[in-house]
Amino acid sequence: MEQNRREFLTGAAWMGAAAMAAGCMSRASAVSGLGGGAGAPMHGFRVAPMKKVRVGFIGVGGRGTPAVHRIAQIPGCEVAAISDINPERLDAIQKWLKEHGLPAAKEWSRDGREDAWRGLCESDCCDVVYSCTPRPLHCPINVCAMANGKHVMQEVPGVFSLDECWETVEAAEKYRRHCYMLENCVYGEEEMLAFNLIKKGKLGEIVQAEVGYQHDQRSLQYKPADGRFWRIDRHVKHHGNYYPTHGLVPAGRCLDINRGDRFEYLVSMETKSASFEAFGRANFPADDSVVGIDGKPFNRHTQRMVKGDINMCLMHTAMGKTLSLIHNVCTPRPYDRGNLYMGTKGIYRSYPSLLIAWEEKEGDGGAKKYFDEAKALQIKEEYRHPFWKVAGEIAKKIGGHGGMDFVMDLRWVYCLQNGLPMDTDVYDLATYSSIVELSERSVNARSSAIDFPDYTRGGWKTAKPFTVDEMDMNRFDFSHGISKDKDAQTT
Ligand SMILES: NC(=O)c1ccc[n+]([C@@H]2O[C@H](COP(=O)([O-])OP(=O)(O)OC[C@H]3O[C@@H](n4cnc5c(N)ncnc54)[C@H](O)[C@@H]3O)[C@@H](O)[C@H]2O)c1
Repeated sequence: MEQNRREFLTGAAWMGAAAMAAGCMSRASAVSGLGGGAGAPMHGFRVAPMKKVRVGFIGVGGRGTPAVHRIAQIPGCEVAAISDINPERLDAIQKWLKEHGLPAAKEWSRDGREDAWRGLCESDCCDVVYSCTPRPLHCPINVCAMANGKHVMQEVPGVFSLDECWETVEAAEKYRRHCYMLENCVYGEEEMLAFNLIKKGKLGEIVQAEVGYQHDQRSLQYKPADGRFWRIDRHVKHHGNYYPTHGLVPAGRCLDINRGDRFEYLVSMETKSASFEAFGRANFPADDSVVGIDGKPFNRHTQRMVKGDINMCLMHTAMGKTLSLIHNVCTPRPYDRGNLYMGTKGIYRSYPSLLIAWEEKEGDGGAKKYFDEAKALQIKEEYRHPFWKVAGEIAKKIGGHGGMDFVMDLRWVYCLQNGLPMDTDVYDLATYSSIVELSERSVNARSSAIDFPDYTRGGWKTAKPFTVDEMDMNRFDFSHGISKDKDAQTT
Protein backbone atom coordinates (compact mmCIF):
# COMPACT_ATOMS: atom_id res chain seq x y z
CA MET A 1 0.00 0.00 0.00
CA GLU A 2 1.37 3.37 -0.95
CA GLN A 3 1.58 5.48 2.18
CA ASN A 4 0.63 9.15 1.98
CA ARG A 5 3.88 11.01 2.72
CA ARG A 6 2.11 13.58 4.88
CA GLU A 7 0.62 10.80 7.04
CA PHE A 8 3.92 8.98 6.99
CA LEU A 9 5.81 11.93 8.31
CA THR A 10 3.29 12.96 10.91
CA GLY A 11 2.40 9.56 12.30
CA ALA A 12 4.14 6.90 14.30
CA ALA A 13 6.66 6.42 11.50
CA TRP A 14 8.67 9.41 12.77
CA MET A 15 11.22 7.16 14.37
CA GLY A 16 11.94 5.27 11.17
CA ALA A 17 12.10 8.48 9.20
CA ALA A 18 14.54 9.91 11.72
CA ALA A 19 16.80 6.92 11.33
CA MET A 20 16.56 7.22 7.54
CA ALA A 21 17.44 10.89 7.68
CA ALA A 22 20.32 10.45 10.09
CA GLY A 23 22.42 8.79 7.43
CA CYS A 24 22.19 11.91 5.25
CA MET A 25 23.14 14.40 7.89
CA SER A 26 26.88 14.49 7.73
CA ARG A 27 27.13 17.60 5.47
CA ALA A 28 24.61 19.56 7.49
CA SER A 29 26.00 18.55 10.86
CA ALA A 30 29.50 19.46 9.81
CA VAL A 31 28.34 22.89 8.72
CA SER A 32 26.13 23.81 11.60
CA GLY A 33 28.08 22.46 14.48
CA LEU A 34 24.80 21.50 16.08
CA GLY A 35 26.34 18.14 16.77
CA GLY A 36 24.91 14.64 16.48
CA GLY A 37 22.32 13.89 13.83
CA ALA A 38 19.35 16.10 13.19
CA GLY A 39 15.73 14.98 13.51
CA ALA A 40 13.30 13.54 10.99
CA PRO A 41 12.46 15.20 7.67
CA MET A 42 10.17 18.23 7.87
CA HIS A 43 7.98 17.68 4.80
CA GLY A 44 4.40 17.72 6.01
CA PHE A 45 5.52 18.70 9.51
CA ARG A 46 2.73 19.91 11.77
CA VAL A 47 2.22 20.54 15.45
CA ALA A 48 -0.79 20.08 17.70
CA PRO A 49 -3.41 22.81 17.13
CA MET A 50 -2.51 26.02 18.99
CA LYS A 51 -5.65 27.85 20.03
CA LYS A 52 -3.72 30.91 21.14
CA VAL A 53 -0.73 32.09 19.14
CA ARG A 54 1.58 34.42 21.11
CA VAL A 55 3.91 36.26 18.79
CA GLY A 56 7.23 37.96 19.58
CA PHE A 57 8.50 40.39 16.95
CA ILE A 58 12.17 41.11 16.32
CA GLY A 59 12.68 44.24 14.21
CA VAL A 60 9.66 46.53 14.09
CA GLY A 61 10.70 48.84 11.26
CA GLY A 62 9.23 49.12 7.78
CA ARG A 63 8.03 45.50 7.64
CA GLY A 64 7.72 44.66 11.32
CA THR A 65 5.42 47.52 12.35
CA PRO A 66 2.58 46.76 9.91
CA ALA A 67 3.06 43.07 10.71
CA VAL A 68 2.40 43.83 14.39
CA HIS A 69 -0.77 45.69 13.38
CA ARG A 70 -1.97 42.79 11.22
CA ILE A 71 -1.25 40.08 13.76
CA ALA A 72 -2.96 42.10 16.52
CA GLN A 73 -6.14 41.94 14.43
CA ILE A 74 -6.15 38.20 13.77
CA PRO A 75 -8.43 36.47 16.28
CA GLY A 76 -6.52 34.11 18.57
CA CYS A 77 -3.24 36.02 18.20
CA GLU A 78 -1.45 38.13 20.76
CA VAL A 79 1.38 40.61 20.27
CA ALA A 80 3.31 39.27 23.25
CA ALA A 81 6.78 40.74 22.78
CA ILE A 82 8.78 43.18 20.70
CA SER A 83 12.49 43.74 20.19
CA ASP A 84 14.09 46.65 18.36
CA ILE A 85 17.28 48.56 18.99
CA ASN A 86 15.48 51.76 18.03
CA PRO A 87 13.45 52.89 21.09
CA GLU A 88 11.21 55.11 18.93
CA ARG A 89 9.99 52.00 17.13
CA LEU A 90 9.19 50.33 20.45
CA ASP A 91 7.36 53.46 21.68
CA ALA A 92 5.27 53.63 18.51
CA ILE A 93 4.18 49.99 18.86
CA GLN A 94 3.30 50.35 22.54
CA LYS A 95 1.31 53.50 21.75
CA TRP A 96 -0.59 51.70 18.96
CA LEU A 97 -1.37 48.75 21.23
CA LYS A 98 -2.65 51.09 23.95
CA GLU A 99 -4.79 53.07 21.51
CA HIS A 100 -6.35 49.80 20.36
CA GLY A 101 -7.09 48.65 23.91
CA LEU A 102 -4.47 45.88 23.82
CA PRO A 103 -2.01 44.98 26.59
CA ALA A 104 1.54 46.30 26.37
CA ALA A 105 4.04 43.92 24.80
CA LYS A 106 7.12 42.73 26.72
CA GLU A 107 10.20 44.53 25.42
CA TRP A 108 13.77 43.70 24.51
CA SER A 109 16.62 45.75 23.06
CA ARG A 110 15.53 49.20 24.33
CA ASP A 111 19.08 49.56 25.61
CA GLY A 112 20.36 49.26 22.01
CA ARG A 113 22.28 46.03 22.64
CA GLU A 114 22.61 44.29 19.29
CA ASP A 115 22.04 40.79 20.65
CA ALA A 116 19.33 41.55 23.21
CA TRP A 117 16.81 39.86 20.85
CA ARG A 118 18.18 36.56 22.15
CA GLY A 119 16.35 37.29 25.41
CA LEU A 120 13.05 37.34 23.55
CA CYS A 121 13.84 33.95 21.97
CA GLU A 122 14.82 32.50 25.33
CA SER A 123 11.81 33.81 27.25
CA ASP A 124 8.60 31.80 27.54
CA CYS A 125 6.32 34.73 26.71
CA CYS A 126 5.78 33.74 23.06
CA ASP A 127 5.33 30.69 20.83
CA VAL A 128 6.31 32.27 17.53
CA VAL A 129 9.18 34.59 16.62
CA TYR A 130 8.28 36.90 13.74
CA SER A 131 11.52 38.32 12.37
CA CYS A 132 11.74 41.48 10.26
CA THR A 133 15.33 42.48 10.86
CA PRO A 134 18.12 43.41 8.47
CA ARG A 135 19.24 40.31 6.61
CA PRO A 136 22.47 39.39 8.47
CA LEU A 137 20.36 38.56 11.55
CA HIS A 138 18.03 36.11 9.81
CA CYS A 139 20.02 32.90 10.31
CA PRO A 140 21.09 33.56 13.93
CA ILE A 141 17.45 34.34 14.78
CA ASN A 142 16.19 31.17 13.01
CA VAL A 143 18.55 28.95 14.96
CA CYS A 144 18.26 30.66 18.36
CA ALA A 145 14.46 30.84 18.22
CA MET A 146 14.03 27.19 17.23
CA ALA A 147 16.59 26.05 19.80
CA ASN A 148 14.36 27.75 22.36
CA GLY A 149 11.23 25.99 21.17
CA LYS A 150 9.77 28.80 19.05
CA HIS A 151 8.37 28.53 15.54
CA VAL A 152 9.96 31.09 13.24
CA MET A 153 8.29 33.33 10.69
CA GLN A 154 11.25 34.81 8.83
CA GLU A 155 11.29 37.67 6.33
CA VAL A 156 12.78 37.20 2.87
CA PRO A 157 15.23 35.92 1.93
CA GLY A 158 15.15 33.39 4.75
CA VAL A 159 18.96 33.18 4.92
CA PHE A 160 21.96 34.11 2.75
CA SER A 161 24.60 31.46 2.32
CA LEU A 162 24.47 27.72 1.68
CA ASP A 163 25.98 27.16 5.12
CA GLU A 164 23.13 29.21 6.63
CA CYS A 165 20.63 27.18 4.60
CA TRP A 166 21.96 23.93 6.05
CA GLU A 167 22.18 25.41 9.51
CA THR A 168 18.53 26.47 9.41
CA VAL A 169 17.36 23.14 7.93
CA GLU A 170 19.23 21.17 10.52
CA ALA A 171 17.95 23.31 13.39
CA ALA A 172 14.34 22.81 12.23
CA GLU A 173 14.88 19.05 11.99
CA LYS A 174 16.62 18.86 15.32
CA TYR A 175 14.25 21.06 17.33
CA ARG A 176 11.07 20.06 15.43
CA ARG A 177 9.85 23.62 14.86
CA HIS A 178 8.39 25.36 11.82
CA CYS A 179 10.72 27.74 10.03
CA TYR A 180 8.53 29.49 7.51
CA MET A 181 9.62 32.14 5.04
CA LEU A 182 7.25 35.12 4.93
CA GLU A 183 7.06 35.29 1.13
CA ASN A 184 4.00 37.48 0.82
CA CYS A 185 3.87 37.32 -2.99
CA VAL A 186 2.78 33.67 -2.81
CA TYR A 187 -0.50 35.16 -1.56
CA GLY A 188 -0.81 37.92 -4.19
CA GLU A 189 -4.23 37.83 -5.82
CA GLU A 190 -2.83 37.23 -9.32
CA GLU A 191 -0.13 34.80 -8.16
CA MET A 192 -2.86 32.76 -6.48
CA LEU A 193 -4.99 33.02 -9.61
CA ALA A 194 -2.09 31.64 -11.68
CA PHE A 195 -1.58 28.83 -9.17
CA ASN A 196 -5.28 27.92 -9.28
CA LEU A 197 -5.42 27.98 -13.10
CA ILE A 198 -2.29 25.84 -13.34
CA LYS A 199 -3.50 23.34 -10.76
CA LYS A 200 -6.84 23.12 -12.63
CA GLY A 201 -4.87 22.25 -15.78
CA LYS A 202 -5.97 25.29 -17.81
CA LEU A 203 -2.47 25.88 -19.18
CA GLY A 204 -1.66 22.19 -19.63
CA GLU A 205 1.73 21.02 -18.43
CA ILE A 206 3.92 23.99 -17.45
CA VAL A 207 7.32 23.91 -19.14
CA GLN A 208 8.69 27.39 -18.46
CA ALA A 209 8.22 30.21 -15.93
CA GLU A 210 9.64 33.71 -16.30
CA VAL A 211 9.62 35.65 -13.04
CA GLY A 212 11.66 38.13 -11.09
CA TYR A 213 11.80 41.30 -9.08
CA GLN A 214 12.14 44.59 -10.90
CA HIS A 215 11.58 47.55 -8.62
CA ASP A 216 13.30 50.90 -9.00
CA GLN A 217 14.73 51.29 -5.49
CA ARG A 218 17.41 53.89 -6.16
CA SER A 219 16.05 56.36 -3.62
CA LEU A 220 15.25 53.65 -1.07
CA GLN A 221 18.63 51.95 -1.24
CA TYR A 222 20.57 55.21 -0.95
CA LYS A 223 18.59 56.24 2.13
CA PRO A 224 19.83 54.97 5.50
CA ALA A 225 17.26 52.90 7.39
CA ASP A 226 17.59 54.21 10.96
CA GLY A 227 21.08 55.42 10.13
CA ARG A 228 22.16 52.04 8.64
CA PHE A 229 22.97 51.14 5.07
CA TRP A 230 22.19 47.47 5.23
CA ARG A 231 20.01 47.41 2.12
CA ILE A 232 22.69 48.42 -0.39
CA ASP A 233 25.43 46.39 1.27
CA ARG A 234 25.10 43.41 -1.10
CA HIS A 235 25.40 45.69 -4.13
CA VAL A 236 28.61 47.12 -2.79
CA LYS A 237 30.26 43.78 -2.07
CA HIS A 238 28.72 40.89 -4.03
CA HIS A 239 27.59 39.69 -7.42
CA GLY A 240 24.42 37.66 -7.76
CA ASN A 241 20.72 37.85 -6.95
CA TYR A 242 20.47 38.68 -3.24
CA TYR A 243 16.69 39.14 -3.28
CA PRO A 244 15.31 36.24 -5.32
CA THR A 245 12.09 35.19 -3.66
CA HIS A 246 9.22 37.51 -4.66
CA GLY A 247 8.72 36.11 -8.17
CA LEU A 248 10.38 32.79 -7.44
CA VAL A 249 8.43 31.22 -4.58
CA PRO A 250 5.01 31.56 -6.26
CA ALA A 251 6.59 30.05 -9.39
CA GLY A 252 8.22 27.26 -7.40
CA ARG A 253 4.80 26.30 -6.07
CA CYS A 254 3.35 26.31 -9.59
CA LEU A 255 6.20 24.00 -10.71
CA ASP A 256 5.92 21.77 -7.61
CA ILE A 257 9.52 22.41 -6.58
CA ASN A 258 10.45 20.09 -3.68
CA ARG A 259 7.08 18.33 -4.22
CA GLY A 260 7.75 16.01 -7.16
CA ASP A 261 10.37 18.17 -8.88
CA ARG A 262 13.44 20.09 -7.78
CA PHE A 263 15.85 22.71 -9.04
CA GLU A 264 18.90 20.84 -10.36
CA TYR A 265 21.23 23.62 -11.45
CA LEU A 266 21.37 27.27 -12.45
CA VAL A 267 23.45 29.54 -14.60
CA SER A 268 23.64 33.24 -13.84
CA MET A 269 24.81 36.26 -15.83
CA GLU A 270 25.02 39.90 -14.87
CA THR A 271 25.25 43.27 -16.61
CA LYS A 272 27.85 45.86 -15.73
CA SER A 273 27.10 48.23 -12.87
CA ALA A 274 25.95 51.64 -14.09
CA SER A 275 22.59 52.88 -12.77
CA PHE A 276 23.20 53.00 -9.00
CA GLU A 277 26.56 54.73 -9.49
CA ALA A 278 25.02 57.31 -11.88
CA PHE A 279 22.28 57.94 -9.29
CA GLY A 280 24.85 58.43 -6.54
CA ARG A 281 26.88 60.89 -8.60
CA ALA A 282 23.77 62.87 -9.56
CA ASN A 283 22.18 63.07 -6.13
CA PHE A 284 24.90 63.36 -3.48
CA PRO A 285 27.72 65.87 -3.04
CA ALA A 286 31.34 64.88 -3.68
CA ASP A 287 32.13 65.15 0.05
CA ASP A 288 29.17 62.95 1.09
CA SER A 289 30.00 60.82 4.11
CA VAL A 290 27.74 58.28 5.77
CA VAL A 291 28.45 55.07 7.66
CA GLY A 292 28.03 51.67 6.00
CA ILE A 293 26.61 48.63 7.76
CA ASP A 294 30.15 47.49 8.56
CA GLY A 295 30.89 50.80 10.29
CA LYS A 296 33.19 51.94 7.46
CA PRO A 297 32.73 55.31 5.72
CA PHE A 298 30.52 55.29 2.67
CA ASN A 299 30.48 58.10 0.08
CA ARG A 300 27.35 57.90 -2.03
CA HIS A 301 28.83 60.17 -4.72
CA THR A 302 31.82 57.96 -5.45
CA GLN A 303 30.82 54.53 -4.17
CA ARG A 304 31.40 51.79 -6.78
CA MET A 305 29.14 48.75 -6.89
CA VAL A 306 30.32 45.17 -7.37
CA LYS A 307 26.91 43.87 -8.40
CA GLY A 308 25.80 44.70 -11.92
CA ASP A 309 22.50 46.47 -12.54
CA ILE A 310 20.67 43.37 -13.72
CA ASN A 311 21.25 39.79 -12.66
CA MET A 312 19.62 36.97 -14.62
CA CYS A 313 19.43 33.32 -13.61
CA LEU A 314 18.24 30.35 -15.62
CA MET A 315 17.30 27.26 -13.65
CA HIS A 316 16.73 23.73 -14.82
CA THR A 317 14.56 21.28 -12.92
CA ALA A 318 14.94 17.54 -12.55
CA MET A 319 11.71 17.05 -14.55
CA GLY A 320 12.96 19.18 -17.45
CA LYS A 321 11.26 22.52 -16.81
CA THR A 322 13.08 25.85 -16.94
CA LEU A 323 12.66 29.03 -14.96
CA SER A 324 14.19 32.42 -15.65
CA LEU A 325 14.66 34.85 -12.79
CA ILE A 326 15.60 38.51 -13.11
CA HIS A 327 16.70 40.91 -10.39
CA ASN A 328 16.85 44.62 -11.12
CA VAL A 329 16.36 47.29 -8.48
CA CYS A 330 18.15 50.20 -10.06
CA THR A 331 17.12 51.02 -13.63
CA PRO A 332 14.23 53.45 -14.14
CA ARG A 333 11.23 51.30 -15.06
CA PRO A 334 7.81 50.24 -13.77
CA TYR A 335 7.48 47.60 -11.06
CA ASP A 336 7.31 43.99 -12.39
CA ARG A 337 7.38 40.45 -10.97
CA GLY A 338 6.76 38.76 -14.31
CA ASN A 339 4.56 35.88 -13.23
CA LEU A 340 4.72 34.41 -16.73
CA TYR A 341 3.90 30.74 -17.15
CA MET A 342 3.93 28.79 -20.43
CA GLY A 343 2.36 25.38 -20.71
CA THR A 344 1.31 22.91 -23.36
CA LYS A 345 -2.12 24.56 -23.64
CA GLY A 346 -1.60 28.24 -22.98
CA ILE A 347 0.09 31.18 -21.31
CA TYR A 348 -0.52 33.35 -18.23
CA ARG A 349 1.20 36.62 -17.39
CA SER A 350 0.26 39.22 -14.81
CA TYR A 351 2.61 42.11 -15.73
CA PRO A 352 2.22 44.77 -17.07
CA SER A 353 -1.44 43.78 -16.94
CA LEU A 354 -3.33 40.52 -16.74
CA LEU A 355 -2.76 38.55 -19.98
CA ILE A 356 -4.16 35.05 -20.48
CA ALA A 357 -4.49 32.86 -23.56
CA TRP A 358 -5.23 29.18 -23.87
CA GLU A 359 -6.59 26.71 -26.35
CA GLU A 360 -10.28 26.07 -25.79
CA LYS A 361 -10.01 22.63 -27.40
CA GLU A 362 -6.97 20.38 -27.75
CA GLY A 363 -4.70 21.87 -30.44
CA ASP A 364 -7.23 24.42 -31.75
CA GLY A 365 -4.63 27.16 -32.21
CA GLY A 366 -6.77 29.34 -29.96
CA ALA A 367 -3.87 30.74 -27.94
CA LYS A 368 -2.48 32.89 -30.76
CA LYS A 369 -4.09 36.00 -29.28
CA TYR A 370 -4.48 37.04 -25.65
CA PHE A 371 -8.07 37.00 -24.42
CA ASP A 372 -9.64 40.44 -24.35
CA GLU A 373 -9.73 42.32 -21.05
CA ALA A 374 -13.34 41.41 -20.30
CA LYS A 375 -12.63 37.70 -20.69
CA ALA A 376 -9.44 37.91 -18.63
CA LEU A 377 -11.39 39.59 -15.83
CA GLN A 378 -14.13 37.00 -16.06
CA ILE A 379 -11.49 34.27 -15.71
CA LYS A 380 -10.01 36.13 -12.73
CA GLU A 381 -13.44 36.11 -11.10
CA GLU A 382 -14.24 32.49 -11.95
CA TYR A 383 -10.88 31.07 -10.88
CA ARG A 384 -10.23 33.29 -7.86
CA HIS A 385 -8.23 31.25 -5.36
CA PRO A 386 -10.31 30.01 -2.37
CA PHE A 387 -8.21 32.10 0.06
CA TRP A 388 -9.05 35.26 -1.86
CA LYS A 389 -12.69 34.25 -2.15
CA VAL A 390 -13.09 34.01 1.60
CA ALA A 391 -10.54 36.50 2.89
CA GLY A 392 -10.10 38.96 -0.01
CA GLU A 393 -12.50 41.57 1.29
CA ILE A 394 -11.05 41.75 4.79
CA ALA A 395 -7.49 41.53 3.40
CA LYS A 396 -8.06 44.57 1.20
CA LYS A 397 -9.47 46.48 4.20
CA ILE A 398 -6.57 45.66 6.50
CA GLY A 399 -4.05 46.03 3.68
CA GLY A 400 -0.37 45.30 3.24
CA HIS A 401 0.69 45.21 -0.42
CA GLY A 402 -2.90 45.16 -1.63
CA GLY A 403 -3.94 42.60 1.01
CA MET A 404 -1.47 39.80 0.26
CA ASP A 405 0.49 40.42 3.47
CA PHE A 406 -2.68 39.90 5.45
CA VAL A 407 -3.67 36.73 3.54
CA MET A 408 -0.18 35.37 4.25
CA ASP A 409 -0.38 36.09 7.98
CA LEU A 410 -3.93 34.81 8.24
CA ARG A 411 -2.89 31.60 6.51
CA TRP A 412 0.11 30.70 8.69
CA VAL A 413 -1.92 31.51 11.82
CA TYR A 414 -4.72 29.28 10.47
CA CYS A 415 -2.23 26.46 9.90
CA LEU A 416 -0.92 26.73 13.47
CA GLN A 417 -4.37 27.07 15.01
CA ASN A 418 -5.61 24.02 13.11
CA GLY A 419 -2.53 21.85 13.33
CA LEU A 420 -1.84 21.90 9.57
CA PRO A 421 1.52 21.89 7.78
CA MET A 422 2.68 25.32 6.58
CA ASP A 423 2.19 26.09 2.89
CA THR A 424 5.96 26.07 2.45
CA ASP A 425 8.52 24.49 4.75
CA VAL A 426 12.12 24.88 5.81
CA TYR A 427 13.37 23.03 2.70
CA ASP A 428 11.61 25.59 0.54
CA LEU A 429 13.14 28.42 2.59
CA ALA A 430 16.58 26.90 2.04
CA THR A 431 16.10 26.09 -1.65
CA TYR A 432 14.97 29.58 -2.61
CA SER A 433 17.50 31.30 -0.36
CA SER A 434 20.30 29.25 -1.99
CA ILE A 435 20.04 31.39 -5.09
CA VAL A 436 21.85 34.22 -3.30
CA GLU A 437 25.08 32.21 -3.15
CA LEU A 438 24.58 29.99 -6.22
CA SER A 439 24.00 32.99 -8.51
CA GLU A 440 27.09 34.74 -7.17
CA ARG A 441 29.19 31.61 -7.69
CA SER A 442 27.93 31.26 -11.26
CA VAL A 443 28.60 34.91 -12.14
CA ASN A 444 32.10 34.57 -10.71
CA ALA A 445 32.65 31.46 -12.87
CA ARG A 446 31.67 33.04 -16.22
CA SER A 447 28.09 31.78 -15.87
CA SER A 448 29.01 28.14 -15.31
CA ALA A 449 26.25 25.78 -14.20
CA ILE A 450 26.12 25.34 -10.42
CA ASP A 451 24.19 22.50 -8.74
CA PHE A 452 21.52 23.12 -6.12
CA PRO A 453 21.90 21.24 -2.84
CA ASP A 454 18.99 18.88 -2.22
CA TYR A 455 17.92 19.89 1.27
CA THR A 456 15.11 17.30 1.16
CA ARG A 457 17.73 14.53 0.71
CA GLY A 458 15.58 12.83 -1.90
CA GLY A 459 12.28 13.58 -0.12
CA TRP A 460 11.14 15.71 -3.09
CA LYS A 461 10.61 12.52 -5.12
CA THR A 462 7.79 11.26 -2.91
CA ALA A 463 6.42 14.50 -1.48
CA LYS A 464 2.88 15.20 -2.70
CA PRO A 465 2.46 18.10 -5.13
CA PHE A 466 1.08 21.42 -3.84
CA THR A 467 -2.71 21.60 -3.72
CA VAL A 468 -5.32 24.35 -3.87
CA ASP A 469 -6.37 24.48 -0.23
CA GLU A 470 -9.36 25.99 1.54
CA MET A 471 -9.64 28.16 4.66
CA ASP A 472 -12.74 28.07 6.85
CA MET A 473 -13.17 31.69 7.91
CA ASN A 474 -15.81 30.66 10.46
CA ARG A 475 -12.89 29.57 12.59
CA PHE A 476 -11.95 33.23 13.03
CA ASP A 477 -14.18 35.63 14.93
CA PHE A 478 -13.77 39.06 13.35
CA SER A 479 -16.86 40.46 15.09
CA HIS A 480 -14.71 42.85 17.18
CA GLY A 481 -13.89 44.84 14.07
CA ILE A 482 -10.69 45.69 12.24
CA SER A 483 -8.76 48.87 11.59
CA LYS A 484 -7.06 49.88 8.39
CA ASP A 485 -3.47 51.01 8.79
CA LYS A 486 -1.93 53.79 6.79
CA ASP A 487 1.55 52.31 7.13
CA ALA A 488 0.42 48.78 6.36
CA GLN A 489 0.71 49.83 2.70
CA THR A 490 4.05 51.53 2.67
CA THR A 491 6.82 48.91 2.54
N1 LIG B 1 8.30 40.79 1.98
C1 LIG B 1 8.44 42.04 1.57
O1 LIG B 1 7.65 42.56 0.79
C2 LIG B 1 9.60 42.83 2.09
C3 LIG B 1 9.71 44.19 1.82
C4 LIG B 1 10.78 44.91 2.37
C5 LIG B 1 11.72 44.25 3.15
N2 LIG B 1 11.61 42.90 3.36
C6 LIG B 1 12.56 42.19 4.25
O2 LIG B 1 12.19 42.53 5.59
C7 LIG B 1 13.34 42.65 6.42
C8 LIG B 1 13.32 44.00 7.12
O3 LIG B 1 13.20 45.01 6.17
P1 LIG B 1 12.61 46.45 6.57
O4 LIG B 1 12.33 47.13 5.29
O5 LIG B 1 11.51 46.29 7.56
O6 LIG B 1 13.88 47.11 7.29
P2 LIG B 1 13.91 48.33 8.33
O7 LIG B 1 15.31 48.81 8.36
O8 LIG B 1 12.80 49.29 8.03
O9 LIG B 1 13.55 47.62 9.71
C9 LIG B 1 14.46 46.79 10.39
C10 LIG B 1 14.24 46.99 11.88
O10 LIG B 1 15.12 46.09 12.58
C11 LIG B 1 15.67 46.80 13.69
N3 LIG B 1 16.92 46.17 14.09
C12 LIG B 1 18.13 46.26 13.47
N4 LIG B 1 19.06 45.56 14.16
C13 LIG B 1 18.40 45.01 15.22
C14 LIG B 1 18.82 44.19 16.30
N5 LIG B 1 20.09 43.81 16.45
N6 LIG B 1 17.90 43.84 17.23
C15 LIG B 1 16.61 44.24 17.13
N7 LIG B 1 16.17 45.03 16.11
C16 LIG B 1 17.06 45.40 15.17
C17 LIG B 1 15.85 48.22 13.19
O11 LIG B 1 15.98 49.16 14.24
C18 LIG B 1 14.59 48.41 12.36
O12 LIG B 1 13.53 48.95 13.12
C19 LIG B 1 14.54 42.41 5.50
O13 LIG B 1 14.92 41.08 5.63
C20 LIG B 1 14.00 42.62 4.09
O14 LIG B 1 14.68 41.82 3.14
C21 LIG B 1 10.57 42.19 2.86
